Formats: sequence, C-alpha cells, structure tokens
Amino acid sequence: MADTITITDDRTGKTVTVPIEGGVFPSSALRELDPSLFMYDPAYMSTAACKSEITYLDGANGVLRYRGYPIEQLAEKSTYLEVAYLLIHGDLPTAEQLAAWTHEITTHTFIHENMRKRFVDGFHYDAHPMGMFVSSVAALGTFYDGAKDIDDADSRQRQIVRLIAKSPTLAAMAYRFSVGLPFNYPDNALTYPANFLSMMWKIGPDYEVDPRLERAMDVLFILHADHEQNCGTTAMRVVGSSQTDPYTSAAAAASALYGPLHGGANEAVVRMLAEIGSKDNVPAFIDSVKNGEGRLMGFGHRVYKNYDPRATIIKKAAYDVFDVVGKNPLLDIALALEEVALEDPYFVDRQLYPNVDFYSGLIYQALGFPVDMFTVLFAIPRTSGWLAHWQELLSDPEQKISRPRQWYAGPDERDYVAIDAR
Ligand code: CMC
Repeated sequence: MADTITITDDRTGKTVTVPIEGGVFPSSALRELDPSLFMYDPAYMSTAACKSEITYLDGANGVLRYRGYPIEQLAEKSTYLEVAYLLIHGDLPTAEQLAAWTHEITTHTFIHENMRKRFVDGFHYDAHPMGMFVSSVAALGTFYDGAKDIDDADSRQRQIVRLIAKSPTLAAMAYRFSVGLPFNYPDNALTYPANFLSMMWKIGPDYEVDPRLERAMDVLFILHADHEQNCGTTAMRVVGSSQTDPYTSAAAAASALYGPLHGGANEAVVRMLAEIGSKDNVPAFIDSVKNGEGRLMGFGHRVYKNYDPRATIIKKAAYDVFDVVGKNPLLDIALALEEVALEDPYFVDRQLYPNVDFYSGLIYQALGFPVDMFTVLFAIPRTSGWLAHWQELLSDPEQKISRPRQWYAGPDERDYVAIDAR
C-alpha cells in the first residue's frame, strides 16, 4: 500500500500526490493545487499545526507519554521537577543534572516585593485567583530585562527556570490574598510540592507537610505537566509565534486554560456534584444531560475516546489522600455517576469517558483547596509543558507567525448608508 495521498481538483482536473508520514500529509499539497484554496477546519479538528517531540497521545487506546515515557511510570517513579526537566530538555536528567536543576528552580522561587505589595494588593478583595494568576504571570515579565531576549539561549533558560520556580509562589500569593491571610515566603529547604503546600497553608511556625499529601500533590503536578496541542498550549504557541516574551505567552496560555471546557472543568465538576447533592438524584441528572440540559462535566475529551489514563491514576491518588484526610462526601456521587454513565448508551455511543478533571477536583477539595483555586493548581505544572512547546516552536525552522485563513461568509461590497437613511 502506497504511503501517499492523491488529491484531485475537479474544477481543473489538476492532481497532486504527496507522502503520508505518521498519519499526516503536508498542506502544501493544497497550495500546489491552487494557492487560493483553503481547508475549512473549525477548531483544528484535522489540523496538525506543528511537528512535536514532546508528548505522545493515543486517544483511542488511552495512551499518554512524555518524551516516550508512559505517564503511569512517571506518576509512580518520578517527581514533578524531574518531569519538568524531561519536558524541557528532552531526556531524564542524570543525578548531577537533577541536583543542579533542582537547585536552580529552588533558588528562584522568590518574587519581587513590588509584585506582592503594589501589584497583587491592587486586586479587588474577592478577585478570582485564576484571574490574579493570569495577570501576575504577565506582569512578572516586566521585572526582567532579559524577558524579551528570546533569541538568546541562556536568557531563554533563565526565563524558563523563573517561570517554573515562581508559578507556585504566584499561585499561593493569589490564594492568601483572596482569603486575607499574610503571604508566606517560599521555604527553599522544602521540595517543590512541599514548598507550595507550605506557602498555601502555613500559619505559625509549626506547620509540617504530611509526606503522603506532598506526594499526592507531586503526582497531580506530574499528570498535568503536558498534554500536547490542547487549547492552552496552542495559545502559547500562537502568541509565542509573534515572538512575544514567554511570560506574556504563558499568560495567554493560562487564559485559555481558565475556561470551563478546559482547565476550569474540575471546578465545574465539584460544583455539579454539589448541585446533584445525593446519589439518589443521579438518574434524574443523567436524564437531564441526555435531554441536552447541560453536560456531564469531567466526561468526554476531544482526543481520548477511551478512559483518560490520567483519570485512572488520579482515582487511585484520590483514595491515598482520603486515607489521610477522610473521604470527600462528593465521592459517592461521582462514583455513582461514573457507574451509570459508563453503562448508558448515550455516553457509550459518543465514547464519553471520565477525563482528568472528573476526580482531580475531589482530591483538591480534600486537600483543602477552595474550588476557585483548582484551575490555578492545573496551571502551576502546565507551565513546564507550555515552556517546552514554546522552546520547541522557537527552534523549529518550519514555524512562522501563526496566521490561519478564513472562509469569508459576510456581505458583498455595499455602499455606506448615512445614519438618517438606515
Ligand atoms: N456530557 C454530555 N454530552 C457530551 C459531553 C459531556 N461531557 N461531552 C460531549 N458530549 C456530547 C455532545 O453533546 C455531542 O453530542 P451530539 O453528537 O449528540 O451533538 C457529542 O458528545 C460530541 O461532543 P463535542 O462537543 O462535539 O465534542 P468535543 O470534542 O468538541 O468536546 C469536550 C470535548 C471536552 C469540550 C466535551 O466533551 C465537554 O464539554 N466535556 C465536559 C467538559 C470537560 O470535562 N472538559 C475537560 C476536558 S479534559 C481537561 C483538559 O484537557 O482541559
């Protein structure tokens, strides 16, 4: 069987044959046929916008790998900082490289005092922490002269380290501000997840992070670190393609993540479970979803048409957390929903399975995070994925500024009508 595709323009009879490699053929075939011919592809359903070596995802079989390593192995054996190194540098670090990377990240966790005193203090008292996170990531770039030196490899690395190191600090600061608590400075003697939990929860000198919760946090960070060309990462690449600095590009990516169909879904799941209120109401709720009155949040995925492998790992991690802090009362409703939905032809026929957000919100809630913080918790580790893609974009000679085409469907030329004649 030939690994080629032949496209014929029936208007002209012109034919073009191009190779298919890895299930992809180049769009140059269309330009060769007719430079003014475009493919209508809303939401990029059939468009591979880049070549990437970072994350492999097989949605039909529920496979997810970072740089070739299965997510299950990373979640069991690795740490988030090691995974961030893997995403950014392409390979697992040696012991020496990991020590140097950990030192670099750990010594860049502090933020400029003006960020906190002037910038964050200016937010309204009930500002959403994700709105604060998005804007403070963009603002952070204004503190660094080198932020715009994106052609300088050393400068790029410095900004990458800063963003990964400071995102938990910005996140914890947004939370402490929103509840009126004083900001906790980073504690560089702690691990990445323990430092974040300490900045979040420490009141008084005796706070100690339970190692089981620290590990659960780290696993959640690993699972959320990258997910190839999702909406947020695409925003990072599109904005980064105009050579915007990485802070502003990451703020754009975080803005995309904020939406309830993307990173905001875990928040929506917990609100939905609370609204359902009891296991007895599950059948009626499922009926309402089937009648088109809303969606079963945390179910369905553009790419996974099978169980999201992250959902399996998270479900297990949820039980580890519940062993320490007690069961989240919403768990029973979630389990009942999952059981009904996995059997119901509506969901089966549409290949709707639990995604990463179905159980993550329950863990976050059990760990004490308010729902407003859930998307921020997603954004902290996703920062390393965004930056890995940003770096890959900048070094890809085939990439240019992103500029899709459109199918114009508006009115033909018409003459301006004076206001009193309309
Ligand atoms: N509940 C009920 N019906 C659904 C759901 C759902 N969660 N998701 C999809 N459908 C139905 C949809 O109504 C449509 O039915 P029909 O063919 O009869 O019109 C069919 O399934 C296909 O849906 P779609 O909207 O065309 O699928 P999509 O690929 O555009 O959407 C999705 C993917 C994730 C936006 C969607 O499944 C959804 O809204 N899920 C709920 C929100 C959610 O959990 N989002 C988190 C995604 S994972 C985390 C991340 O990567 O950010």
